[in-house]
Amino acid sequence: MKQNKIQIFPSILSGDFGRLADEAKRLEQAGADGIHVDIMDGHFVPNLTFGPRALGAINRATNLFLDVHMMIYNPYDYIEAFIQEGADRLTFHFEATEDVDDALEFIRKCGKKAGLAFCPETSFSMIPKYLTRCDMVLIMTVSPGFGGQQFMADVVEKIQLTRECCDRNRIRQGGVIVPQGSEESLPPFDIQVDGGINAETARACVKAGANVLVSGSFLYEQPSLSQGIQMLRNV
Ligand code: DX5
Ligand code: ZN
Repeated sequence: MKQNKIQIFPSILSGDFGRLADEAKRLEQAGADGIHVDIMDGHFVPNLTFGPRALGAINRATNLFLDVHMMIYNPYDYIEAFIQEGADRLTFHFEATEDVDDALEFIRKCGKKAGLAFCPETSFSMIPKYLTRCDMVLIMTVSPGFGGQQFMADVVEKIQLTRECCDRNRIRQGGVIVPQGSEESLPPFDIQVDGGINAETARACVKAGANVLVSGSFLYEQPSLSQGIQMLRNV
């Protein structure tokens, strides 16, 4: 089913690393809902990207919501550092930590939004129990680690199952279960997709129930970032 409001989070991984502050301003002017910042540790994923100080530089340049995607082992150990540098939502991988509940609780105790990410090969059956314990589920549509990869179409079913599970159990924004009949009292639960998102794949994801779209290569390849963002918002 189609959700009303689609949020667009450009991935700054596709931007110019020598001008992160300018890139952040550019994304703000282009009408992004926030900036997706990919943190990679060279262990959980083979690539290395930003640490907390780079996030701080982005934060000082913009008022946009900072959506931090931690592709790192032991995410718990880095939560405070990223919060100090301006993270608004911290999403870590189910596959990268033993203490999923502790990390989710700690992020929320710090007053930030907690997201939980699932790799393409992780089964849907792992997801339901966390829907009421986090603010967002990130369903990866590529194997995490690099921008510019091809969308994995077989993950669409997982998006659909997750949305159906939210609807069936009346789980809305923030993982809150609302009484029967008052579903509209809260916006839908946030389901994010990340990897290979373009106008065509975004349509498939939104149709399946995703409402938060991350896009790197596709958006940065558009002649106009703002038009690219509009295009994705209106799929
Ligand atoms: C991949 C990252 C993505 C990446 C998406 O591991 O998590 O956020 O930037 O880039 P595209 O849209 O190019 O697949
Ligand atoms: Zn990401």
